[in-house]
Amino acid sequence: MAIRKIGIMTGGGDCPGLNPVIRAVVKTARGYGWDVLGIEDAFCGLIDLDYRSPYGNRWLDDDTVRNIHTRGGTILGTSNRSNPFAYAVERDGQRVEVDVFDRVLENWERLGLDALVSVGGDGSMAIAQQCIDRGLPNIVGVPKTIDNDLGATDYTFGFDTAVSVATDAIDRLRDTAESHDRVMLVEVMGRDAGWIALQAGLAGGAHAILLPEIPYRLAPVARAIEERRASGQPYSVIVVAEGAKPADGEASYLGEREVGGMRRLFGAAQRVAAGLSELIDLDLRVTVLGHTQRGGSPSNFDRVLGTRFGEAATHLVANGGFGRMVALRGTQIVDVPIREAIGHQKRVDPNGQLVRAARSLGTVFGDEA
Ligand code: F6P
Repeated sequence: MAIRKIGIMTGGGDCPGLNPVIRAVVKTARGYGWDVLGIEDAFCGLIDLDYRSPYGNRWLDDDTVRNIHTRGGTILGTSNRSNPFAYAVERDGQRVEVDVFDRVLENWERLGLDALVSVGGDGSMAIAQQCIDRGLPNIVGVPKTIDNDLGATDYTFGFDTAVSVATDAIDRLRDTAESHDRVMLVEVMGRDAGWIALQAGLAGGAHAILLPEIPYRLAPVARAIEERRASGQPYSVIVVAEGAKPADGEASYLGEREVGGMRRLFGAAQRVAAGLSELIDLDLRVTVLGHTQRGGSPSNFDRVLGTRFGEAATHLVANGGFGRMVALRGTQIVDVPIREAIGHQKRVDPNGQLVRAARSLGTVFGDEA
């Protein structure tokens, strides 16, 4: 089948490196003589062709992607509420999730698209696979997750930048912790996987790291802080992943899941601080990095990885590699079936080398005897 027009969309949470992907797709597609339609806010722009937030769908050329590789965010916008198979609408005064995939099929025809590059995380890839199964086969995936928790790829762009932001924060907090003899808690992203917390904690020399994969108790953390104080170091820095959970409870959430959305994590570090304040007699302060980790100029690594993914995904379209997703294995870009990439989370191994290295250097994880 001759390709003439392809679409590209970015879905799920944003992260630094999306714009390099878009730029690479547009520039590589130009080599094939294709037109590239940028679809606004993931599937929102395909569900409703009049959708504007703020720009709506638009054709992308060299001018529209010039120098965007240095910018965080995504020029196409993104959404984690645009699943066409569970789309939130108002019905009889109630918000309910409905299947609007027929609209996607209809609009695909209207736009005359021949293929789609879908950039997104596990949720976006699951939607892409459902589209393929329901009659929209010409989709190629590009993996994206700031948490770096997709099993099919060694790295996703955005993660490196986020770890740099978190490491910088730890360095800064150490200075002020040391000046004031305080315990500083810094909360970083990491819903199900604690890679950001672990990498930044190692890079920054955190004294405790609490991860979703290692349910914690506060007693070992308090003991480590007290031992530091007794040895003449009356300050500590603790990194807490937003999805960290106590051994006897669940992660900290803000209310229930909203219709069409996902449940929001909130307050993990605050909860640890509240618990520790009962056990130790030192000043505690909490810093939540939140979305600062998701913004800003992508690091060199993230720019290059995003560029390589975008270029490879475009060649994959040219070669008819539909239903596949590009991935990084070692130093090589490969491609894997989207179906196999879904649902395989890459989580921190509590017995793995990174955790062992941190423990060897004296960092506690809250699971010590
Ligand atoms: O999945 C990536 C992620 O950054 C999580 O770490 C975090 O819980 C979630 O997205 C936050 O999403 P939102 O942008 O909706 O706050």
